[in-house]
Amino acid sequence: MRIFIDTANIEEIKEINAMGFLDGVTTNPTLIAREGRNYREVIKEICAIVNGPISAEVIGMDYDAMIDEGRELAAIHPNVVIKVPLSETGLRAIHSFKQMGITTNATLVFSANQALLAARSGASFVSPFLGRVDDISNSGIMLLEDIITVFDQYSFPTEVISASIRHPMHVVECAKRGSHIATIPYAVIKQMIKHPLTDAGIEKFINDWKQVF
Ligand code: E4P
Repeated sequence: MRIFIDTANIEEIKEINAMGFLDGVTTNPTLIAREGRNYREVIKEICAIVNGPISAEVIGMDYDAMIDEGRELAAIHPNVVIKVPLSETGLRAIHSFKQMGITTNATLVFSANQALLAARSGASFVSPFLGRVDDISNSGIMLLEDIITVFDQYSFPTEVISASIRHPMHVVECAKRGSHIATIPYAVIKQMIKHPLTDAGIEKFINDWKQVF
């Protein structure tokens, strides 16, 4: 499973990228707004740091606005993936982007049917929001399982990005189900690295060493 970071914060991206396991970045309007910076500048900077798919979301909700914004964002760098919300207009835009050779990430996916339609429309990626499904007392992981089963059944080229990851066990469960990618917030990546027995082990090794040398 490939690892993306779900953030628009340049310092977080630099820090995680330096460890060598980062395959891509996803952003969304909330994450960009949190940085309070020029949208296109942020995307450009991210592309200069990480060599992999960088999702940038369209803000406009009508077809023409989606296409104009998507084209503009895609022109920033070949690695930019246009994130399009799942809707009738969104599916139409995904289909058009496919014909233009622009890669897309169908976002705000909450059902296997939405994922199926996005894949058939030509989405390069679909992003089921696991944590938000859990928030309404359903199972995000069961949704992921359904999508993976459908995609495997027909060998769809569309890749699944497990999104809205809330804790380290989400990541393990995604990897066990064969999610192609998980996009993970900075804080959860840090939690994945940590283990109390590793910390205790390091401390004991250092103390034992110091007692003799
Ligand atoms: C994914 O592409 C989204 O940016 C993100 O995972 C949403 O997560 P949230 O539900 O924690 O906002």
